[in-house]
Amino acid sequence: MKVCIIGTGYVGLVTGTCFADLGNDVICVDRDKNKIENLKIGKVPIFEPGLEELIIKNSKIKTLNFSTDINKSIRNSNIIFICVGTPTNNKTNSVELKYVYQAVRSIKKNLNNYKIIVNKSTVPVTVGDKIEKILTSKKNKKNFDVVSNPEFLREGEAIRDFTYPDRVVVGTSSKKANKIIKSLYLPLIKKDSRYINTSRRGAELIKYASNAFLATKISYINELANMCEKASVDIKDVSIGMGLDQRIGDRFLRAGPAYGGSCFPKDTKALVYAADKFKVNLSIVKSVIKFNELRKNLPTEKIHKILGKNLKNKKITFLGVTFKPGTDDMREASSIKVIPYLAKRNAEIRYYEPTGYKKEFKKLKNVKFFTNIKDACMLSDLIIIHTEWNEFKQLNFRKLVNKKIIKIFDMRNLYSPDNMKNNKISYFGIGR
Ligand code: UDX
Repeated sequence: MKVCIIGTGYVGLVTGTCFADLGNDVICVDRDKNKIENLKIGKVPIFEPGLEELIIKNSKIKTLNFSTDINKSIRNSNIIFICVGTPTNNKTNSVELKYVYQAVRSIKKNLNNYKIIVNKSTVPVTVGDKIEKILTSKKNKKNFDVVSNPEFLREGEAIRDFTYPDRVVVGTSSKKANKIIKSLYLPLIKKDSRYINTSRRGAELIKYASNAFLATKISYINELANMCEKASVDIKDVSIGMGLDQRIGDRFLRAGPAYGGSCFPKDTKALVYAADKFKVNLSIVKSVIKFNELRKNLPTEKIHKILGKNLKNKKITFLGVTFKPGTDDMREASSIKVIPYLAKRNAEIRYYEPTGYKKEFKKLKNVKFFTNIKDACMLSDLIIIHTEWNEFKQLNFRKLVNKKIIKIFDMRNLYSPDNMKNNKISYFGIGR
């Protein structure tokens, strides 16, 4: 099928590349000339395991192409995916939709034959209706369909999530469009992924509802972790005991710091904002947002508990600074708030991050990036396991720190408190 992807961010690149890898004829469009020139030579602007190889492979066999010519790309395609960013408008907590509507206006100018416009950008309920309204004109006699097809890709697992989705959600009442989109996803559906055809508004809401529920699940276990610390219970035991109940499910029950990333913080706020428009008070999601905001203070509170009030010249090492493993993404990572806080109190910060140096900390003079774990940990007063990269899961801290007193703040509960105790290491987890 002839597929055009508008927007080569995270969602657009992964979606376009995976559809090309299924044998479709894909053109990815972006107004950013540099980005497109780089993509044409296989230079990928994001860190996502497996993506670069797939882009190079499919560019070579010409199933995947890149262009800045949006008009020609749309005209030469039958299925147009809108994959542009929908950031939060920080003044109102609403969603910035200007990039979506800019893409829609380009599509309107190029409706040279029947086209299916598939919105994959995360948008509030009813935006699909607005897109249809903008596109409808006497001239094009509505020779198109607007479909909502939300993505559920996780950073770091995006290729896997696209190829083995739990479900493919397609929002349209058009039998014609549904038939065509179903055949586009057929290779994935055959792999036991559920295909759900629902209303367009239904599909738009499923996206927000899913992310807000996952954010709620994480906040629930994080709040219980606070109680576990007081009750001398290990939150990991509680997660296991709860998660074995299939009605609850064991995923997304890992206690830790505030959740981060580009989606949960943004989508929970957008859902509340959209619900307010319908005069519906989503009080549960509102409290999740409030709780997660407060939880951003947890790491610094713990660090003071461990090292005391005065942090001057304390050597503090961060293992990982991204919001989660498998990505170079720093959006809403705890480190973004914690490291400047510590730097301001004249602590000496060192960090080792598998995805490399982070410009977010460049202005902070007492923050240093190390290219290996050993140098980063040497003689450290406190080691903070910030991101649960695999390479942090079996470290010999005695060897690494080379000091009598070793203090570990494990924000991801990777280690066993008993083992640490047996090794005479001061160990501080979350909820245990
Ligand atoms: C999320 C959704 O999972 C995905 O379906 C959607 O398409 C985009 O948003 P992502 O933001 O990449 O994906 O990250 P995710 O793996 O969901 O983690 C989000 C945050 O929750 C991270 O800060 C992570 O550390 C935290 N988390 C996740 C926990 O604290 N505990 C858990 O058990 C799981």
